[in-house]
Amino acid sequence: MTLDFEKHLRLTQDLTRVGSWEWDIGRDRLTWSDEHYRIFDVTPETFTPTLRGLLERVHPDDVSALESAVALCRATHESFTCEYRVMRPDSTTIPLLGRGAWDATPGVAGRMYGTAQDLTERKRADEALLIANRRAQGLAGRVLQVQETERRRIAHELHDEIGQALTAVKIGLQRLRRKITDAAFGADIDDCATIAARALDQVRGLSLNLRPPHLDDLGLEAAIGWLIRHQCDASGVAAHFHTHGVPRRLRPELEIACFRVAQETLTNVLRHAGAEDVWVQLCCRDGTLELTIEDNGTGFDVAQAHARAVGGASLGLLGMHERTLLAAGRISIARRTPAGTAVTASFPLAVQGGRAE
Ligand SMILES: Nc1ncnc2c1ncn2[C@@H]1O[C@H](COP(=O)(O)OP(=O)(O)O)[C@@H](O)[C@H]1O
Ligand SMILES: [Mg+2]
Repeated sequence: MTLDFEKHLRLTQDLTRVGSWEWDIGRDRLTWSDEHYRIFDVTPETFTPTLRGLLERVHPDDVSALESAVALCRATHESFTCEYRVMRPDSTTIPLLGRGAWDATPGVAGRMYGTAQDLTERKRADEALLIANRRAQGLAGRVLQVQETERRRIAHELHDEIGQALTAVKIGLQRLRRKITDAAFGADIDDCATIAARALDQVRGLSLNLRPPHLDDLGLEAAIGWLIRHQCDASGVAAHFHTHGVPRRLRPELEIACFRVAQETLTNVLRHAGAEDVWVQLCCRDGTLELTIEDNGTGFDVAQAHARAVGGASLGLLGMHERTLLAAGRISIARRTPAGTAVTASFPLAVQGGRAE
């Protein structure tokens, strides 16, 4: 069975919402396919296509872009694509993707041909995606905000309530110890006091990690300095910290976002990299805050780790991206030469009308 090409082409254009055209420039004669007429919502009986007639139906804001694209194609014989909107007789406006090319068939003079694709469904899908993205981002922002509030509350409670109770137990045991003369009983009390002291240290450590007071009281530079000492000192990894031009206080959301990115990155270096050194740089210049953390460890396949994280394997990398995005910043995680990983996050210092400049 042979294929009826005309029918086949008609059905294809109908299914894909793509109309086609051919333009005999000398006679200003446009020939449109059935689908092209349908997209413009006119019929061969009521409308004879010409370039002028076509441009009269194009949205006024899009006319010059389409005219220029066509003129350039005529002058250079290079193909073009151009998005424009057509205004139909029933006052609806349809977004189109126009493509055109010069007909270079030998013996053919002054001809162009091309297509017009109805983008309504794609635009609708793009818009739905945009709305869904905005919603997801709003939700993520809210979740992170609630998480910060909760962390601060738990940090205070650990420090003030449990920390103080443990301190009282420790002091009480020490006082009791002084009154005890029985050696065995005294040793038991010493053990209890040691356990209470260790628990107190753990509670303090937990509280500091959840919400270091340096961040609230002293600002970002001091908080990251503390973080490096707190995380790296006992780990055997040599930390090198450089700063340049960082104001003492920045927007609170910016301080928290940058601190949490530094915290997660350093934790990753210590947990996964097997590095000997880590270099941390915090700089402010040209209205941008930039945090760079580099290690000379094993390095890793970032795209693969990201795909695993999206699949639910981990949260750290995703959290860093989310926090940076919410603070209107950018983050890049890449292999470092000659070895290891380099993480760079940059954030705009100023915001205007709730959005970063
Ligand atoms: N600096 C690094 N060096 C080597 N591997 C890293 C580094 N940072 C991240 N990774 C890899 O990326 C993975 C995902 O990191 P993350 O999302 O923070 O999850 P988690 O730390 O809980 O495993 C880690 O399991 C590790 O394999
Ligand atoms: Mg991690």
